[in-house]
Amino acid sequence: MINIRNLSKRYGDFEALHHIDLSVSKGEFVVILGASGAGKSTLLRCINHLTEPTTGEIQVDGVQSRGDRAGLRRVRRDVAMIFQHYNVVPRLSVLKNVLTGRLSAMPAVLSWFQMFPQEDIKIARESLRRVGLEAKADVRTDTLSGGQKQRVGIARALAQRPKVILADEPVASLDPKTSRSVLSCLREASRESGITVICNLHQVDYALEFGERIIGVAGGRIVFEGRPDELTEEALHRIYPEGVDTPAQVKQPGTAPHAAVTAAVATARPAPPLLPSQQAFTLEKS
Ligand SMILES: Nc1ncnc2c1ncn2[C@@H]1O[C@H](COP(=O)(O)OP(=O)(O)OP(=O)(O)O)[C@@H](O)[C@H]1O
Ligand SMILES: [Mg+2]
Repeated sequence: MINIRNLSKRYGDFEALHHIDLSVSKGEFVVILGASGAGKSTLLRCINHLTEPTTGEIQVDGVQSRGDRAGLRRVRRDVAMIFQHYNVVPRLSVLKNVLTGRLSAMPAVLSWFQMFPQEDIKIARESLRRVGLEAKADVRTDTLSGGQKQRVGIARALAQRPKVILADEPVASLDPKTSRSVLSCLREASRESGITVICNLHQVDYALEFGERIIGVAGGRIVFEGRPDELTEEALHRIYPEGVDTPAQVKQPGTAPHAAVTAAVATARPAPPLLPSQQAFTLEKS
């Protein structure tokens, strides 16, 4: 589904990504781990060209996006994003926030006047049902909790009917219980619809619990790639050279994988304009 070849990104003299090669299969749930500044967000943002790569090739579902406007438009239509700070419009209703995920699919004149076709309203309500928020459709989004706002972010992404969801630290602002429920929600959505997910996370234990595959990034390079049960303490040192707490699930040399990891792996399956779900909104009418 996603093929990245020889991707590099320079900011002036600083190389944030160094010759990255990465392939992600359809429906796969991949977690990217790495210390702050490792290049996780840059990698994610290069996939839909929120950040323009310096060199390299990126294909999403066979469509080449670099230097091809039509390709880029298609990729942006097929790739939804979820952000740490939700990027919801607080004064809009929950339903209208989710409907903004449909904007790319409707004529511009209707979107200017926020006249949403019935079919799009149906898709938005269905997306809200999938994240368990159908009862909140008509309330103002600023009345929701952080976890609920992130579910709105997921529903908006789903309403886009994407092939890929890129989630940049979607649970960094949430408590552990809410984080797990938001990540479960994302995983279920991915499984139900065969959506490919790449999710940046800071928490190793969530990566072990939710990732079908883990990519470890340090200094702009991929330093680990494997299933959760392959993540050893030594690999963690490569990903976090300055140290990180090692969860009990991480495989110690010469020991069998932790039961929780084994269970997670056993249930794992095989492996233009920006869309509103890809940028901060300016839509302020309510
Ligand atoms: N627009 C920019 N201009 C210059 N340098 C940048 C820019 N964006 C990112 N960088 C640098 O590139 C490196 C990678 O940044 P990136 O945001 O991808 O890291 P990250 O792994 O997402 O970190 P965090 O976990 O803190 O979000 C960092 O050193 C950062 O300072
Ligand atoms: Mg980041």
